[in-house]
Amino acid sequence: MRPNSTVHLYELAWILPSIAIPVGMLVALIVSAFGAGIHLPGDEGRVDPTKVAQMAPFNQPGVVELGPGRYEVRMVAQVWAFEPREVRVPAGSTVTFVSTSKDVVHGLFIPGVNVNAMLLPGQVTRVTVRFDRPGEYPVLCHEYCGLAHHIMEGKVIVEPKS
Ligand code: CUA
Repeated sequence: MRPNSTVHLYELAWILPSIAIPVGMLVALIVSAFGAGIHLPGDEGRVDPTKVAQMAPFNQPGVVELGPGRYEVRMVAQVWAFEPREVRVPAGSTVTFVSTSKDVVHGLFIPGVNVNAMLLPGQVTRVTVRFDRPGEYPVLCHEYCGLAHHIMEGKVIVEPKS
């Protein structure tokens, strides 16, 4: 070995990772897009934000019983209210919130349970959560949406099992 050959090894130690890392990232991208099927939100998860009030299921906001202990809440957010404002379900229910915004970006946050989502105009957001403990849960908008953002709230009332 020539005396300066370590310089080449040192360069090689940098060059190889600088090729391997982008190649690894590209492979991860290809695997997640085509293997795991992870994509940007498609049209099937969207409604026309200017026609939210006319489009199912948002033309009839409210609570729908899907089966024993399973409920779907069709919820519309707008400045500065949630519709429905109040949701009542029995304790132990599994509730799926299907919601969107009519106007600007709102938030859907229910402290105490695992609901913390953004509501983008026309983008349908689905969150499923189980309410085991009876009580009153606030439904809060936690994305700044204008002057009366701080009063934008609703509630989920979880009734004790009869
Ligand atoms: Cu809606 Cu803040």
